[in-house]
Amino acid sequence: MRVLIIGTGLIGTSIGLALRNRAFDGEVWLVDSDLASAQLAADMGAGSLLAADAGPADLAVLAVPPEAVAVMLADAQARGLARFYTDVASVKQLPVAQARAHGCDMTTYIPGHPLAGREKHGPAAARADLFLGRTWAFCTSPETSRSGSACVVALIEACGAVPVNTDPVTHDRWVALVSHAPHLVAAAMAARLEPSGALDLAGQGLRDVTRIAAGDTGLWTQILTANAAPVAAVLADVAADLAAAAAALADGEPKAVIDLLNRGRAGVARIPGKHGGVQRSFAAIQVVIRDQPGELARLFNAAGAAGVNIEDIRIEHSPGLPVGVAELSVPPADVTALLDALQAGGWPVKPYLRRTGCGARGAPPGVRGPGGSHRKNLVASSSDPAAQAGLA
Ligand SMILES: NC(=O)c1ccc[n+]([C@@H]2O[C@H](COP(=O)([O-])OP(=O)(O)OC[C@H]3O[C@@H](n4cnc5c(N)ncnc54)[C@H](O)[C@@H]3O)[C@@H](O)[C@H]2O)c1
Repeated sequence: MRVLIIGTGLIGTSIGLALRNRAFDGEVWLVDSDLASAQLAADMGAGSLLAADAGPADLAVLAVPPEAVAVMLADAQARGLARFYTDVASVKQLPVAQARAHGCDMTTYIPGHPLAGREKHGPAAARADLFLGRTWAFCTSPETSRSGSACVVALIEACGAVPVNTDPVTHDRWVALVSHAPHLVAAAMAARLEPSGALDLAGQGLRDVTRIAAGDTGLWTQILTANAAPVAAVLADVAADLAAAAAALADGEPKAVIDLLNRGRAGVARIPGKHGGVQRSFAAIQVVIRDQPGELARLFNAAGAAGVNIEDIRIEHSPGLPVGVAELSVPPADVTALLDALQAGGWPVKPYLRRTGCGARGAPPGVRGPGGSHRKNLVASSSDPAAQAGLA
């Protein structure tokens, strides 16, 4: 399959990297209104720049902001750039309505949306594994070409994602709850963080709650305004819950607060893991690292040499200290190999272990206990650290 990616930012470049990284049997061509972005994506290995004499691609992926999709689609169809077209915009009713208004051929346009992303943008933030195990919505209607939808499903699966067929209205209502309203809730909390000494006490909980608020304002304004009514409905419910909790605290009557906390715990447990299944648990190894160039690369090299796949990493810095703590999430079966490699590499402290994976589901009491304590660490000092941490 020949895939043309139009828009080589975070998502477009990640698609190219995912295809190339997974031994995709085909070609990936890149184009962007910003030549530097397309060149950077090509240099990162996401594909090759679209040649002037390239024939039509099998599938063109419009990885541009939502409001640019329909104009791009009309232009690409007029130029015959591909047999079929899809997009990745985070809302679906807007590009579909605009595409109809522009007179686009709707039989060859199969709208899509990967439910994966980051709070950063541009090709430099792209990741080959961004879509692994994630759902990727696509919309078909009676007029959709069957070969076109098969082509989009093939792309989604080639990126390691799981295709979910839906319609634009349902899609927009659902993402209001699971993506768009959460973004504004995170922004509302982050907006309270005026400069003050309080920020010196900021820990991982605050970072977890506010991380997505760092997303691009322009892109998010397009997304939120295009899905205004469903997002507003979710926000009104959240605001009512918060108002009830605030009133209960002010009155010294905690029942509404306890109720909200319990409903919150139940909601977290309902969030599925990758592939829509039960969340995977990882062992988290915390390593003290010096705040100096090359230290993280050394850490990754040690893990790579030990054949250990780091599933996630986060880094905590203590202001003013010359060290930080890198927390590496790895499959529990890899803990011993990684600890051996780290100790052989001379890291200054023994690593600590805890169980991770966003869900409370399946986490044994005492590792992530009631109240969500993330800090109940167990020193890994025996010859079987996984067993020590209750992970074996
Ligand atoms: N960021 C996320 O987490 C995320 C997740 C899922 C879907 N999406 C969707 O993916 C799309 C792209 O988002 P992104 O995060 O990759 O943004 P980005 O800013 O990283 O990339 C957008 C790219 O599109 C290019 N572009 C913009 N207008 C263009 C035009 N008219 N012609 C050609 N190129 C143009 C820009 O130069 C840029 O390289 C959006 O529709 C967004 O809703 C984003």
